[in-house]
Amino acid sequence: FRAMTTVGIDAVEIWAGKCKLDLPGTFAPAKDEDPDKYRKGLGLENSSFPDVYEDIVTMGANAAKRLMEREGLEPDDIGRIDVATESAFDNSKPVSTYIAGCLEEVYEDDFHHANKGERKFACIAGTQSIDDAYNWIKAGRNRGRSALVVATDTALYARGSSGEATQGAGAVAMLISEDPDLVELSTEQGYGSADETDFLKPNQQFPSVDGKRSMQVYLARMREAVEDFESVAWDMHPEDFTYIPFHTPFPGMVRKAGLLGYRHMIRDTEIEDDLAGEIGRQPREGEYEDWDAYEAAIRDYMDELKGTDRYQAWYADTIDPTLSIAREVGNWYTGSVHVARASALKAAAEQGRELAGEKLLVGSYGSGAQAEIHAETVADGWKEEIAQLNIDDQLEQRYDLDFEEYEQIHDVHNHDMTVDVEEFTTPEGEFVFAGRGRMNERL
Ligand code: HMG
Repeated sequence: FRAMTTVGIDAVEIWAGKCKLDLPGTFAPAKDEDPDKYRKGLGLENSSFPDVYEDIVTMGANAAKRLMEREGLEPDDIGRIDVATESAFDNSKPVSTYIAGCLEEVYEDDFHHANKGERKFACIAGTQSIDDAYNWIKAGRNRGRSALVVATDTALYARGSSGEATQGAGAVAMLISEDPDLVELSTEQGYGSADETDFLKPNQQFPSVDGKRSMQVYLARMREAVEDFESVAWDMHPEDFTYIPFHTPFPGMVRKAGLLGYRHMIRDTEIEDDLAGEIGRQPREGEYEDWDAYEAAIRDYMDELKGTDRYQAWYADTIDPTLSIAREVGNWYTGSVHVARASALKAAAEQGRELAGEKLLVGSYGSGAQAEIHAETVADGWKEEIAQLNIDDQLEQRYDLDFEEYEQIHDVHNHDMTVDVEEFTTPEGEFVFAGRGRMNERL
């Protein structure tokens, strides 16, 4: 007999690329664009970029090392290392072997006992790796050990493409354990999944992307996932959840996802009744002659809903706190939704709130395309855990690239061997990529 344990995220660590590009201040003027497109439209201030000596391995290994050190972990405590990335440079060896190799340099022990892998499904792969770890622990195969999940990406787009506005780079390391200190994961999940070709990288460094369509696909899959989650879990009410972290390619996308989720959740609730005098009730499908007319009516209703005080207060409390780090770093692909969770918990800790036992609803998404919804319960140790993050210092210390330097860094991370660029920052006691074309070396 084995008692059912709770499983979830025990600890989290974030490593931001050491350079930044000021989008309204540097990028917009260079592109002859209005800075408000970035600040107000996309909701972005800066994108993070790796320095020349950083890459997905060093960022992931540095995040993992910091997490292991402060949790007092030894390799023997870790039974599984999974890396989620869509920026892998090796079609055979998983990035987790490179990261484990780095970590073995600083521990006297090795990870020979640990199962290693690499997960790929665009940005949702980080959440999928957590799911794999959850299943491994729940199945009782972990021998008391935890799983290390690292989501690491350099999210770069071709220069001159529309995606260039939404770049970023960084890593999130998470420890998945029994009786977690940060959040406990729900058994229930909801999925929305379809074969889509709006964002893809078939044998190419930068994505081919149809930006506008990618936003529609994100919303369509997310709606399906919410409906699927409701079918296995419960009728959701907006006030059930303290925060709703979504995959955040840029905060403007989450503005749209938040509105869609709220509209869905208030249907047939007292909130819809309360708002009826102001903006009417939501259109019901049967009231319209065809789907197009129904969709147009829903769009009109959402435009009205967006302007209500009730919605704006909910958005400010439930969604906006998830975006504070994303505004400063841009898209981190696989790490992005996990940065959103950390942002919200960090905001709550800064306000001195007590969250233990409260619920989060987490909306993950990956192009190609799949959305996943699950719930999380905040664990007793959340505040001590989140207080360990030093992300504010990291963001503060970043090197501010001018436009020409940004283009050089972009070329470096496009594996252009002809670019000769000095590093912009000085590494201190961290793993570095010692030379293009060479393996990782360590400080
Ligand atoms: P764009 O053409 O650069 O920008 O494309 P825009 O002209 O559409 O403007 C963006 C927003 O700013 C719009 O807001 C404008 O109105 C507003 P919206 O109408 O959508 O609410 N705006 C202004 N606001 C105030 N003052 C102004 C001003 N000017 C404009 N002066 C796009 C933007 C996101 C499409 C582009 O950057 C892109 O292609 N990005 C990459 C794709 C992407 O991020 N898609 C998101 C959904 S798919 C996803 O999340 C998966 C992904 O993470 C990959 C994965 O899973 O691996 C990408």
